[in-house]
Amino acid sequence: MKVAVIGSGGREHTLAWSLVRSPEVSHCYCLPGNGGTAGLPKTVNVAIAVDQLGEICEFCQTEKIDLVVVGPELPLTLGLTDQLQALGIKVFGPTKAGAELEASKSWTKQLLVEAGVPTAFGETFTNPEPAQAYATKMGAPIVVKADGLAAGKGVIVAQTLAEATTAIAELFDQGFAKIVVEEFLPGEEVSVLALCDGKTVIPLLPAQDHKRIGEGDQGLNTGGMGAYCPAPIAPPAVIDQVQKQILQPTANALAKRGIDYRGVLYAGLMVSSTGEIKVLEYNCRFGDPETQAVLPLLATPLEKVLMACVDQTLGQLEPLQWHAGSAVCVVVAAGGYPGSYRKGDEIGGLAEAKAQDVTVFHAGTELKEGKVLTNGGRVLGVTALGEDLSTAIATVYRGVEQITFDGMYYRRDIGHKAL
Ligand code: AMP
Ligand code: GLY
Repeated sequence: MKVAVIGSGGREHTLAWSLVRSPEVSHCYCLPGNGGTAGLPKTVNVAIAVDQLGEICEFCQTEKIDLVVVGPELPLTLGLTDQLQALGIKVFGPTKAGAELEASKSWTKQLLVEAGVPTAFGETFTNPEPAQAYATKMGAPIVVKADGLAAGKGVIVAQTLAEATTAIAELFDQGFAKIVVEEFLPGEEVSVLALCDGKTVIPLLPAQDHKRIGEGDQGLNTGGMGAYCPAPIAPPAVIDQVQKQILQPTANALAKRGIDYRGVLYAGLMVSSTGEIKVLEYNCRFGDPETQAVLPLLATPLEKVLMACVDQTLGQLEPLQWHAGSAVCVVVAAGGYPGSYRKGDEIGGLAEAKAQDVTVFHAGTELKEGKVLTNGGRVLGVTALGEDLSTAIATVYRGVEQITFDGMYYRRDIGHKAL
C-alpha cells in the first residue's frame, strides 16, 4: 500500500512514523516532509508545498497513492479532499465543507447550539460597536475570537474590558469580517481527538497540550510546547460522556448538514472544577503536539484505522488497542519563538537522545548535505513512553538534554500538572 502524508511538522513526522511501522505500507511519500521524515524507512520527501493542490493531486494520481493523509488544516480548508476525491483517490481528512468546523468559529458555534452540544455562551458580530456593547454587558473576563484561520493568534482571553475593546478593534482592523465574543470558561483544558467516518465516532486517548511558551503556563501562546497522554483529567467515564454528549451529536449534526466527514474530530474541551465539560473549539485534523504523544501509544496499525474511516467501516473495526502506560512529548523550539527566530543552525545530539530510549520527531528541520538544520519555530518533539507519567517524564528529559543547537528552548514542566 502506498500512502502520502501532507505536511511538514512534528505531527506529520509522527503520522509517517506510525504508518511505515505497518508491513502493509510499502511506500510513504511526505509532501513536503522535513529532516526527520527524510530518514524514515520506506519514505521519501517530495518537494510540493501543502497549498499546491494541483501538484499534490497530480502526484497522487501519477504515483497511484492508495491513501492520502492530510496533516494541517490549510489544505483541508482549501478543498484538497474534494479535489482528490474527484479523482477517485482515497483521502483521510474532511472536505472543504467539513473543514468549516475549524475555519469558522461562528459556523461551529451555530452547529453546536443547534445540536445541543455544551459550549461557551456567545454571539457573532460583523461590526465593532455591537461587539463592544455585548462585551460590556457580559463583563470581563471575556473571550474574543476571530472568525477565520489565524495561526493560533485569533483568540484573545481579555481579563479586562479595556483588553476586550482593543482585541475587538484589532481583529476587525486585521480584516476579519466576523468575530465571536463569548463567555470565559474557567477550568482545565483537554484535547480529545476522535476518528470519524461520517457516522461512527471513536475517541482516541485524551491528551493535554501546553500552549504557553513559559513554564507554569506563562507568556505568549504558541502552537503547543508539549503534550502528554492519557490525560488523567479525562478518565474513561468522562470520555464516554464526551462521546455521547459532544462527539456523536457533532458528527450527527455534520451529517444532517449533508457533510460526509471522514477524518479527525478534534475537540478542545474545558473541564470545570465541578466536572462540567464544554467545547472551546473544534479542529478538523490531528493536534500538534498531541499526536506525538497519542499515536506512539496506539497498538492497532494506524493505516488500518485511517482506512476504516475512509471506507466508512469504523463501526465494524475491533476496539482500538493501546499500549499500557503514558507518553509525553516535549517540544524543543528555536530561541525567540513564538516571536522571530533564527533558522539554519546545526542540530547535534540526535543519536545520543535516541540512545536514551526516546523518539525524536522532527518539526522545523531540514536535512542539508548530511546535516540536520533548524528550519522553523518548533524544531523537534521528543517523545518518551513510560509505565506511568512520571517515568515517561524522567525519560523524556534525559533525551531532550542530549540535544544541542544555538538558542534552543524547551519547557521543563511538561506533564507536571498531572502528577
Ligand atoms: P481556541 O482556538 O478557541 O481553542 O482558543 C485558544 C485558547 O484560548 C484555548 O486553548 C483556551 O486556552 C482559550 N480559550 C478559548 N475559548 C475560551 C473560553 N471560552 N474560555 C476560556 N478560555 C478560552
Ligand atoms: N495543539 C493545538 C493544535 O493542534 O491546534
